[in-house]
Amino acid sequence: MLTRVQIQRLVYQHGREVFEHEHMDIERRCYQHGAVTTFAHSIRVACLAVWMADRLRLWYRVDLHSLVRSALLHDYFLYDWHDWDNGEHRLHGFTHGQAALRNAVRDFDLNHIERDSIAKHMFPMTPVPPKYIEGYLVTMADKISATRETFSRDRFHKPLLRK
Ligand SMILES: [Fe+2]
Ligand SMILES: [Fe+2]
Repeated sequence: MLTRVQIQRLVYQHGREVFEHEHMDIERRCYQHGAVTTFAHSIRVACLAVWMADRLRLWYRVDLHSLVRSALLHDYFLYDWHDWDNGEHRLHGFTHGQAALRNAVRDFDLNHIERDSIAKHMFPMTPVPPKYIEGYLVTMADKISATRETFSRDRFHKPLLRK
């Protein structure tokens, strides 16, 4: 069974290209849930997805590289959905999987597992389920992380980020 540190190492190793991209700076400046930035949220989702694959003993079926990259890019929509924008982001919950995929395809060379997992990570809020097990792991890890982050007490102590 992998330890927390081993999982973090795997995420940094397989996610290196994503972490090094200049657009990740936008994720570092945008809050996602509560006091957690999109960047921190994406790392949590990646670590949790790897942890679940490990504890469920899915390694014979899961492509670790695609799993980590999908998790890191699942919310790569690159805007702060809390900003006022005439209601354009009102449908954020339904549309941001596609927005994340559009940006991710522009910035990275993605395989079919990564594309599908990013686009469908809001299932069952969006109707089409993921095609691959990596997508289900990202979806589950995202729901768990988002719920924890939203109800964390830290949300009341959130520092102002430079925009
Ligand atoms: Fe999302
Ligand atoms: Fe997310």
